[in-house]
Amino acid sequence: MTTEDNKPKTAAFRVGLGDITPNNLGQLKRLNTVLFPVVYTASFYKDVLDVGEFAKIIYFNDVCVGAVCCRKENVAGSTSLQNLYIATLGVLAPYRRLGLGSKLLEHIIENAELPPSTGPKIAKMYLHVQTDNEEALEFYKKHGFNVAEKCENYYPQFEVSDAFRLEKVLVKDE
Ligand SMILES: CC(C)(COP(=O)(O)OP(=O)(O)OC[C@H]1O[C@@H](n2cnc3c(N)ncnc32)[C@H](O)[C@@H]1OP(=O)(O)O)[C@@H](O)C(=O)NCCC(=O)NCCS
Repeated sequence: MTTEDNKPKTAAFRVGLGDITPNNLGQLKRLNTVLFPVVYTASFYKDVLDVGEFAKIIYFNDVCVGAVCCRKENVAGSTSLQNLYIATLGVLAPYRRLGLGSKLLEHIIENAELPPSTGPKIAKMYLHVQTDNEEALEFYKKHGFNVAEKCENYYPQFEVSDAFRLEKVLVKDE
């Protein structure tokens, strides 16, 4: 990610990724409450503590401004492959378009692409976004995700209830 003079957009600032731990889980919950209209359950936050590199917080000048949370899902009929579902990925509005969302997503993609030392490989990464969420659609397309399906009434509780399922295939059918 570069600006017109070819320098990273956040070069003048300290940007870093952090693990999610019991000590900063409260910060993650506050972030997600601001960023998403969905209320996530206690079991969601319990699971986040167990996904290792697939859940991260991002700091901008030591302030926690965004986060990503994924979960691994089994692939029916396979013991060698899993899918990775991106449940939440967001950056607080004042800190957008600085490359922070990309830093979170690139971390997830890089780790999903690593050959695992043990256990299943990640075959596919996927997520859902409301059909009117143009910024997220542009963001994920820029990172190589494609629209796989339109899911009607996926979010029945919202006025815009339809969603797109976006996916990025890492391992083609073997
Ligand atoms: C989607 C989101 C995570 C992007 O975060 P971000 O830090 O602003 O993203 P980046 O700065 O890394 O943007 C990377 C690219 O995505 C695209 N993009 C991001 N925001 C965009 C927007 N508002 N309009 C058009 N394209 C956009 C651009 O191609 C951008 O590259 P550029 O700035 O060089 O043009 C952020 O808008 C967000 O938190 N939205 C609310 C939560 C959400 O909807 N999450 C997605 C569902 S999980």
